[in-house]
Amino acid sequence: MRHILDIKDLSKEEIEWIIKRALQLKAQKKIQKTLDEKYVLTAFFEPSTRTKISFQKAAMTLGAAVIDFTPESSSLQKGETDLDTILTLDAMEFDAFVIRIRRNNAPAEFSKYLKVPVINAGDGTNEHPTQALLDAVTIYESFGTLKLNVAVVGDINHSRVARSLTELLNKFDATVRFCGPKDFVPTNFDGVELITNDLKEAIEDADVIYALRVQKERLEKSYENIDEFFTKMQINSNTMKMAPRHAVLMHPGPFNRNIEVSDEIVYSERSKILEQVKNGLYSRMAVLELAMGVSNLESVQSRQLTMARL
Ligand code: NCD
Repeated sequence: MRHILDIKDLSKEEIEWIIKRALQLKAQKKIQKTLDEKYVLTAFFEPSTRTKISFQKAAMTLGAAVIDFTPESSSLQKGETDLDTILTLDAMEFDAFVIRIRRNNAPAEFSKYLKVPVINAGDGTNEHPTQALLDAVTIYESFGTLKLNVAVVGDINHSRVARSLTELLNKFDATVRFCGPKDFVPTNFDGVELITNDLKEAIEDADVIYALRVQKERLEKSYENIDEFFTKMQINSNTMKMAPRHAVLMHPGPFNRNIEVSDEIVYSERSKILEQVKNGLYSRMAVLELAMGVSNLESVQSRQLTMARL
């Protein structure tokens, strides 16, 4: 078994395996129940739609039983700490924990106490490894390689998604650029070639435009007209013209319509947003298998899938 806490921790070989396995599962008509008789606990201390439901459906598709811990109706309301909550749930003998929490590094902290895998489903502003993995699956599926120009646009400073995605793309020699309003982009970032406030500069030779939501729930100070701020860098049919014709739009969701992305572009032909959601299901199946040790790294090498350009 292995914990899946951050991208740093995953080898290139493991990431390649997850991509291949996810695409293999996506192509299968009937999926084998590799997690039969396992119990998976989902504990989301922060809101979620895509991540939680896709983890639950992924585990159930592989034959596991899933129980969802709901913080609002739990003993957290009586003052129990999150660590005591996790230890209590662990005493009930689950086979894996999928955890989203506001506190940076909390899943790593919990993993020290548990003998079963902890999968980080997003911790504060730190990491969101399974989002980066499903994004890699989507990019690889579209282009056949990850060695591309990727422009990440929006509120980068508060985004765990940008952090995990950049880490992953760096492992595969992609070129990453950041673009956002001042205060929302770092002054420098390991492995990022260009950090700019100029959308054209960021996307003119991008293969992937990766838009991000302004994370209002995480801001340290208040801004007037914050939405207007981001509208200046909105991805819409006009600004998409600054990018090459083959460039695709991605977004982890949830998006703010007509703030960082416009109505007419969210579900357009150039948008991969719903494909990301679909790939999230298969990527999380692969992640659960890897974490729970039911599949070995060789299991997909022998199949038809080739990744010649990875
Ligand atoms: C992201 C998250 O929660 O980190 N969403 C997701 O998991 N698809 C991004 C966000 O909330 O903006």
